[in-house]
Amino acid sequence: MPAADPRVIVALDFAHPARALALMDRLDPAQCALKVGKEMFVVAGPEPVRWMVERGFRVFLDLKFHDIPNTVAQACAAATRLGVWMLNVHAAGGQAMLEAARQAVAQTAAERGRPRPWLIAVTVLTSLDDADLAAVGMAGPTAAAARRLALLAQAAGLDGVVCSAQEAVPLRAACGAAFKLVTPGIRPRGSARDDQARIITPEAAIANGADYLVIGRPITQAPDPLAALAAINASLANLQRNPQ
Ligand code: C5P
Repeated sequence: MPAADPRVIVALDFAHPARALALMDRLDPAQCALKVGKEMFVVAGPEPVRWMVERGFRVFLDLKFHDIPNTVAQACAAATRLGVWMLNVHAAGGQAMLEAARQAVAQTAAERGRPRPWLIAVTVLTSLDDADLAAVGMAGPTAAAARRLALLAQAAGLDGVVCSAQEAVPLRAACGAAFKLVTPGIRPRGSARDDQARIITPEAAIANGADYLVIGRPITQAPDPLAALAAINASLANLQRNPQ
């Protein structure tokens, strides 16, 4: 694990793994973590993740597991063996699934003599609104459901949640200072909104209580990705997460 604790997690959302790896080659593990999602994992499998870990990057494996407890536990154990730094599951998988995932991650890491990866939960997908929740029979509104699921994840021993930076303030209040809040939907001032409906600047996300910022296209599609990342890191250099 790198000694640095960079706050930016670069989302490597590329159709071709070679492009992701080409960008990885230019990045510095002290300046950012990397996120690998379903698209790249389905195309390229675990090998690129191994390369990233070997290069010293913290890797967030964003596969959002949601299945019966035994299956999710086995998948989390396998991800832990890959050496990832962070992985996630759906809180809606229920308490038994969350506890099985937590236990599998802890046990596998201990067997290998490694630090335990952060296990975080997805609460309510930001693509869902109150009507969508009602249609699948989930009590809403979305903000209440996100709080409920975050507290369930915390009670099951998970380390944090993925949430929008708007949700970060109430979730920090509900879950306390040690709970990790990982926020996508980040756009530095002046960059394109793309398909994100609700966006917030990196500085505002940290001010709202985010621990880590998932940032994709503002870095990966920038004319100079390294300069874009450096500018974001510089804007955060003297900021403390708030509230503490
Ligand atoms: O390119 P951009 O910065 O929008 O990428 C954001 C990343 O965060 C993508 O990988 C996207 O799938 C992910 N994400 C998100 N909103 C969520 C959860 C994850 O944008 N609610």
